[in-house]
Amino acid sequence: MSKEYFDKIANEWDNIRKGYFTQIIRENAFSFAGVKPGKLAADIGAGTGFITEGLVNLGLRVIAVDQSEPMLEIIKQKLGNGTRIDYRIGMAEKLPIDDSTVDYAFANMSLHHVQDPLDALHEVIRILKPDGKLVVTDLDKHNFEFLKHEHHDVWLGFNRHDVIKWYQKVGFNVIFIDDAEEDCCAQSSCGCHQAKIGIFLALGIK
Ligand SMILES: C[S@@+](CC[C@H](N)C(=O)[O-])C[C@H]1O[C@@H](n2cnc3c(N)ncnc32)[C@H](O)[C@@H]1O
Repeated sequence: MSKEYFDKIANEWDNIRKGYFTQIIRENAFSFAGVKPGKLAADIGAGTGFITEGLVNLGLRVIAVDQSEPMLEIIKQKLGNGTRIDYRIGMAEKLPIDDSTVDYAFANMSLHHVQDPLDALHEVIRILKPDGKLVVTDLDKHNFEFLKHEHHDVWLGFNRHDVIKWYQKVGFNVIFIDDAEEDCCAQSSCGCHQAKIGIFLALGIK
């Protein structure tokens, strides 16, 4: 189960992540959503706060949600317990956030760890205010099986048409999907597989 995996690697995640993708993905996600200071965002599967930190630096308040307490502890160590970040342990499939309360939701590289992404998307649309925006940044469909065994990925990326269908199904009114202009790169533990996988950005407006 991925919770145990992420609990274990929480201390190392910032370094691991830097090998997989860069700030470009975050900048493109924020610009896709048109984030504005003073607004409230949810960071779903926040990990060690890659998205959360970027949003706080732009003047937003963030509810950082993750299944893994050690991951959230790392954000606290880095960014403190100020008023800008509300840390909540919880599942993407049952978000610990009230209905229609957030302006934006971001899920960077977390949806491929969720058993049923449709459940998570139902939850996101529930917590967004009317006109609220979701940006998922995640992997395109790929065949690198080692990511299942070594990184506890549930999904080997997503087909963009499926993502659009899921967004429509849960009720997003406006949907755009595009390249995040960056690939995710990872090597298998034996060194025999080198993954280079495209990343998409999917925007939905409630
Ligand atoms: C690959 S990491 C990405 C972390 C962060 N978003 C980033 O960009 O660095 C995936 C994160 O999603 C969390 N996660 C996975 N499945 C989850 C679920 N069903 N509910 C909540 N968090 C989940 C993991 O604990 C982990 O912190």
